[in-house]
Amino acid sequence: MSTLFDQTSLGPMTLKNRLWRSSTWENKADSKGHLTPELVKVYENLAKGGVGTIITGYAFICEEEQPNARMMGIYDDTFIEEYKNFTKNIHELGANIVMQIVYGGSQTDFNSGSRKIFGPSAVENPIFKVTPVEMTKNDIDYIIKSFAEAAGRVKEAGFDGVELHGAHGYLLSQFLTPFFNRRKDEYGGSIENRARIIYEVLEAVREKVGPDYPVFIKMHSTDEWGENGLTPEESLIVVKGLQERGISGIELSGGHLSSDPDTAPIKPKLLKKEKESYYRKPAAMIASAVDVPIILVGGNRSVEVMEDILENTPIKYFSLSRTLHAEPDLPNKWKQGFRGKPRCISCNKCWGRDTNICVLDRKKS
Ligand SMILES: Cc1cc2nc3c(=O)[nH]c(=O)nc-3n(C[C@H](O)[C@H](O)[C@H](O)COP(=O)(O)O)c2cc1C
Repeated sequence: MSTLFDQTSLGPMTLKNRLWRSSTWENKADSKGHLTPELVKVYENLAKGGVGTIITGYAFICEEEQPNARMMGIYDDTFIEEYKNFTKNIHELGANIVMQIVYGGSQTDFNSGSRKIFGPSAVENPIFKVTPVEMTKNDIDYIIKSFAEAAGRVKEAGFDGVELHGAHGYLLSQFLTPFFNRRKDEYGGSIENRARIIYEVLEAVREKVGPDYPVFIKMHSTDEWGENGLTPEESLIVVKGLQERGISGIELSGGHLSSDPDTAPIKPKLLKKEKESYYRKPAAMIASAVDVPIILVGGNRSVEVMEDILENTPIKYFSLSRTLHAEPDLPNKWKQGFRGKPRCISCNKCWGRDTNICVLDRKKS
């Protein structure tokens, strides 16, 4: 029987367990996206806490397009030496580390009046009220090149892999979602057209990092957004397209941060076991139809539920954000047999104005 603590391999990576830290913006980099001691500490605590593979918070790929405060950057070569030391440190503490890279788009309230923000179409963001500039073919080529160059830096800096942020309402996911993508050219309309930019990003990244370097994507198993959204069947078409083009693994999430809170990807109040691992159904449907490794994210809270999914579906890996934000050593506790409730109560108060600190730690200080 498979367990969460099996050692596995994924291409050149060895994973000491099936647990990943899902990308989590810490709000702790400096104003240009460089590392700070408090940010490095978060990663050291995660690595010491036993998670097998850490995905960094989203890192911005174009200097002029930072969608949020105090994010990590990867937009030029000045980051390479600093991240080389960082990845070496995390490796010595026993974890793999993958960098997530992003172009944000209209889902932003960070300096949004002062910069040019791209989108598939000039559709106002329903929550953030930002209307992006509809991208020309030249703009699309610029973003593809920026992703590829950033991925090259990620590899050079010693990360074990790179993850494209194709989820939660940021630019690449907006192309997939009919609400945001009203284009009439080859990047809009059919699901093949809406996925085209993502395929082109993957192809450009592959060309840069070579055929064997681990390249992942976080994308939706469903938008949960009715006819305005991406359905699980359409997600499967995209997953198959990515598999054909050499993706190494796919982290399946769902929902936009710019839609109804009930359909957003960070769901609160996961008090009952049935509410845990909330994308398991569409993700299992997709995993059953492909060979590429699937990482399930969203509400993973107990060994019992994750090992049931592991036993009964082809999903191989599980990633966690809020629980490790509140309790970075939960993987070690699980490994030692702890089966009580995690410290995280899914209250969704992880965010702070100046830095992100779990509400339970804020009360203490
Ligand atoms: C504080 C915070 C920051 C996050 N930052 C990112 C991010 O940078 N990139 C990303 O893909 N998802 C991000 N997420 C979403 C998580 O990776 C994850 O998909 C979501 O929280 C559901 O998983 P969970 O139930 O384990 O928290 C963030 C979530 C939280 C709570």
